[in-house]
Amino acid sequence: MLEKNPVIFIILAFVVIMVGTTVTMIAPFKWINGPGDRIAEVKPYTPLQQEGRDIYMREGCNNCHSQTVRTLAADVERYGYGGGYSRSGEFVYDRPHLWGSRRTGPDLAHIGLKYPDPKGMWHHKHMENPQSVVPASNMPAYAFLNAPLDTSYSERKMKLLKFPYTQADLDELKGKSEMDAIIAYMRKLGTDLPVSKASNGPKLQDVLNNPYNDLNTVKAEALSIYAKDCASCHGVKREGTLGPSLKGSARSDADLFAIIANGIEANGMPAFSGMLDERKIWKLVTLIKLGKQDD
Ligand code: HEC
Ligand code: HEC
Repeated sequence: MLEKNPVIFIILAFVVIMVGTTVTMIAPFKWINGPGDRIAEVKPYTPLQQEGRDIYMREGCNNCHSQTVRTLAADVERYGYGGGYSRSGEFVYDRPHLWGSRRTGPDLAHIGLKYPDPKGMWHHKHMENPQSVVPASNMPAYAFLNAPLDTSYSERKMKLLKFPYTQADLDELKGKSEMDAIIAYMRKLGTDLPVSKASNGPKLQDVLNNPYNDLNTVKAEALSIYAKDCASCHGVKREGTLGPSLKGSARSDADLFAIIANGIEANGMPAFSGMLDERKIWKLVTLIKLGKQDD
């Protein structure tokens, strides 16, 4: 009957759609993004990082890179780098957010955890010529960012965004290039999160003995972990590029285990204890010790 009266039909249809919209789009704001979702450790951007973020937008990096680690286990393992999946509190200072909708390249939400080097050497090399570190990369080269940074709006941006800054932060901008700014931004992403890699992962005293002493049984798996996590700094054939060659080593198995698990972050070697379990690390140790030929 009702469908024969167009006015009532339109009104009822409108009401039904509004109920759906309220339940799925408006009501959730009552209980998400509240103060409880804040993450105290997450800090606003410094002027240099904010300039880097603006360059990221200008260059359209977000057309190829997302910045949100989904709750799926595979996503957390691939892009979490010990920081887990993305929570809303991580984005409170992102205006606009840069979640992105396409992953031609990897997710960058926690990229700062992946490359902890304070000098940003890996990023520098990669930005100037991505194929020099990841030969199959289709990312364009950004060597032209080695140009002086335009800082004429830096202070105004900080004021507009209501981010705290000091004169020292502004002085830090002097003589910086656009490259420095984008690397400062990359190095910040994810690093405020309370990650305690060493305590999540295996502890050396629990695992003193390498259970694998036959290279052939572990080789295939070790090579695939190596290709994914190590090749971009130690070379596709383990010949050494940013990090030293890993074809054979005079170090003990336990030393190698400790280096891989805990990293030497000040020199650019990341800690992998939050990402690789004990067995995977031992397999890599076996590959490094016994795999002396190219594969
Ligand atoms: C045409 C798509 C494309 C564009 C545009 C692009 N990238 Fe990439 N990017 C990739 C791909 C593919 C990879 C993976 C291979 C590699 O590491 O080079 C990558 C890798 C990266 C990585 C390393 C990720 C990791 O997990 O090791 C960083 C950092 C990065 N890009 C930053 C940027 C920045 C900053 C910009 C903008 C200035 C940018 N990218 C623009 C495609 C792109
Ligand atoms: C972001 C770059 C980077 C990545 C990724 C990386 N490394 Fe390293 N690695 C380094 C650097 C740089 C050093 C040198 C540190 C130093 O000299 O203190 C190093 C040192 C090492 C050493 C000590 C070598 C020696 O004899 O002094 C080992 C072992 C090692 N890395 C293994 C690995 C393994 C295994 C992986 C993958 C799971 C890996 N690295 C991933 C950068 C990296």
